[in-house]
Amino acid sequence: MGVRTKINLGLLAAFVLGTGMLGSFAWNAIQQNARAELVREAQMITAQASAIRGYTVTEIQPLLAEQSRTRFLPHTIPAFAASSTERDFSKGYPGYIYKEAALNPTNPGHRATPAETAIINDFRKDAALKSIIRTLDTPDGPVISVSRPLKIGNKACLICHSTPDVAPASMVDVYGSENGYGWSVDETIGAQITTVPMRAAEERARELFIRFMTGAAGIYGVALLLVGIILHFAVGTPKATA
Ligand code: HEC
Repeated sequence: MGVRTKINLGLLAAFVLGTGMLGSFAWNAIQQNARAELVREAQMITAQASAIRGYTVTEIQPLLAEQSRTRFLPHTIPAFAASSTERDFSKGYPGYIYKEAALNPTNPGHRATPAETAIINDFRKDAALKSIIRTLDTPDGPVISVSRPLKIGNKACLICHSTPDVAPASMVDVYGSENGYGWSVDETIGAQITTVPMRAAEERARELFIRFMTGAAGIYGVALLLVGIILHFAVGTPKATA
């Protein structure tokens, strides 16, 4: 085998190996980046919901305190305000879902599914756990869920969530006397669970990977060609033997 053939074979092997290594590195980096972006999106939605909860307590509750005495207004309830607002938000962003899931919810729409129950139970077992990130396959495609525990921080919550006879009668009229009671201070009763769809992000990641690898292979190809041309002039073509 001539020197040039050996060099060319060496370059080809380096090309195949290099492209393989670069591809694997780029694929992992792009996937990790896509996932981190989705987690960040979910965290932002959760933060938004928490801000709505806070605003409801500090601004809406005092404003409607008078009317609330004669008629129960769910608009003053943080869970109601956050869930309603995020439901509207989801209309513009299908698949982006915020839920205040609870094991024994006041509003049956907040009842935890089996997967959500598992998350809440993990929070109940470990009080130090502040966030759980899970990937799930759903009929609408894979999703990432980011969860934070919902804890009964103070006794004021128990006005409505201890027993029906303590809760405002107007509330019991609307929500009944079965659900959302029996909670206690410091208990983790549920979780803020934000779900974001993965399919579009996976698609974008795949496109980015293909574009990147096409570019990289192009650059390698040009480099190989240049080396070939240089070799041609430096080493010359093998002389024909008689
Ligand atoms: C004035 C009564 C009242 C008080 C006080 C109250 N809640 Fe609620 N809470 C409700 C009602 C009513 C709902 C259902 C709202 C809806 O329809 O979305 C609810 C819903 C919730 C939910 C969503 C799950 C579910 O049960 O449907 C959570 C979580 C929650 N409350 C936590 C708290 C915490 C924590 C506090 C104290 C900081 C608190 N609540 C204080 C009345 C109250």
